[in-house]
Amino acid sequence: MNILGISAHYHDSAAALVVDGIPVCAVQEERLSRHKGDSAFPLLAIESCLEHAGIDPDELDAVVFYERPMLKFDRILTCALRGFPQSWRTFPNAMKNSLGEKVWMRGIISSHLGVPARKVLFTEHHQSHAAAAFLTAPTRHAAIMTADAVGEWATLSVGDGERTPNGPTRIRRFREIRFPHSLGMLYSTFTAYLGFKVNEDEYKVMGLAAYGQPTLVEEVHKLIGRTADGGFALDLSYFEFHTTAERSYSSRFVELFGRPRSPYEPIDLETAEGQRFADCAASVQRVLEDTLVEIARALRQETGFADLCFGGGVALNGLANARLLAEAGFERIFVPPAPGDAGCAIGAALYCDRIHFGNPDRDLPDHPFWGPSVDGSELARLAREDGHSAVEFEDGALIDQIAEDLAADRIVGWMEGALEFGPRALGHRSILTAPHTTEMRDRLNREIKYREPFRPFAPVVPVEAAARYFEIPPGGTRLARFMSGVFPVRREWRSRLQAITHVDGSARVQVLERPMAPRLHALLEAYGRRTGIPVLLNTSFNLAGEPIVNRPIEGYSTFLRSKMDVLVAGGTRVTKHTSVLAKTQLDKIKEEVA
Ligand SMILES: [Fe+2]
Repeated sequence: MNILGISAHYHDSAAALVVDGIPVCAVQEERLSRHKGDSAFPLLAIESCLEHAGIDPDELDAVVFYERPMLKFDRILTCALRGFPQSWRTFPNAMKNSLGEKVWMRGIISSHLGVPARKVLFTEHHQSHAAAAFLTAPTRHAAIMTADAVGEWATLSVGDGERTPNGPTRIRRFREIRFPHSLGMLYSTFTAYLGFKVNEDEYKVMGLAAYGQPTLVEEVHKLIGRTADGGFALDLSYFEFHTTAERSYSSRFVELFGRPRSPYEPIDLETAEGQRFADCAASVQRVLEDTLVEIARALRQETGFADLCFGGGVALNGLANARLLAEAGFERIFVPPAPGDAGCAIGAALYCDRIHFGNPDRDLPDHPFWGPSVDGSELARLAREDGHSAVEFEDGALIDQIAEDLAADRIVGWMEGALEFGPRALGHRSILTAPHTTEMRDRLNREIKYREPFRPFAPVVPVEAAARYFEIPPGGTRLARFMSGVFPVRREWRSRLQAITHVDGSARVQVLERPMAPRLHALLEAYGRRTGIPVLLNTSFNLAGEPIVNRPIEGYSTFLRSKMDVLVAGGTRVTKHTSVLAKTQLDKIKEEVA
């Protein structure tokens, strides 16, 4: 049975194809269209999935959209009516922004793909998040929690799931919290207040939090209170996101927290104002964590399950995930590599397969590499055409050479196998460097990533060595598999891991098991043999404002436009030194001109 899942028209569109119960391809539209956060109908991603599996649209048994447009329509209409008369000006805009073509989704999908309308199905948004978290995790029984800004109505849900080998799957939802009461919206409101981009820059708030103290927790608690049923409610007088698209916080919010930061104002942590912004970030982060921990702890007691599967955009918050693991009572927490809306494409397709069609349970491959693959020979051709040195290596020799490059402080663009699905580079489209000095961090920021100095870089370490350098609690290895948790760097190693140690001594570490990415694992070991420390800095392979690279040509273009020293795709290593052949040609031309 061939089932296509689609997530679109909000931000970060994606498509995923499930064949006979197993995902075969999943990719975000931005990686193909090259527009960051592309929210358009993911035609390129769909095409890529179908091409990968070698099937035509008429061979699809179902196409599943990741939410129910009519329920969302209902929410926007209801909120607009509640907000009347303040909302009447913004209503047409909200309709256009939030819904656009969504209401007509069945017809759109049917006409784009040429599939009959009866084959177009819908899942609820939080069902898609729940399925993406639970059905991709190697666990049979688990509590499930989802949290994001908003889907149709739900903003947080709790429930459980059970899988029977080769038998039926059950996913239940016990309760949900509904819009406008939303942890995601609370966090996004602070994201906007602190001058960052909503739905995109939430992780900057998390990075900034480490520089502040949670001195404003009491104030944040005025905005959000716990309810008798174990949920929470926002005091809406501090917010405007539910009545207008123009501003998410109200004048009362500004009275409480002070002047908002302009996006163009640098954050100077030496000033009282800069510190206030960091304290705001630390305070909302603390309240978010406390609230999640309490809800999860109750869920642990209610279900008795040792595992928690956590999905939705809020599950990208690695600090909160680490606290959930430490304090909610679960032994393991599974956060999928794409917990946000892009991941709903895979969730919707799996939900449809297991629940709608009742197909038997299948164990799924436990990795994030579901996109198109790179071809090293394509890179070699591109580089040679431009007169750059491109050498194709045998596997072992390549690993040794790249370990040597890294040990010599060269910045390496590393492309390998299939593209990651989700926002994080987990070793197939990564920029790798030595992690030891702040100079390397500053060089990366200055020459390649151009990002705010308060944002940390992440490390990658083989599982065998992880405990030596990082304080990974029981169950933490699982959370660190897809870089979903923030853990302390051991004090004695911080001075030798400066580029990846955040100001509070933590790191969002990826703990790598060999089978997931054998070549990167081998590279870490080879690097460890040379330097004594098998840890590398691993940041996503892209320039600021661009999506992560996919094909060799994008990696190559990024390599040329930045001060990256070495580029690898498959077995091909490219450097900016002119090749001997090209140099001879160049000399010849010079002679002729002379
Ligand atoms: Fe969502």
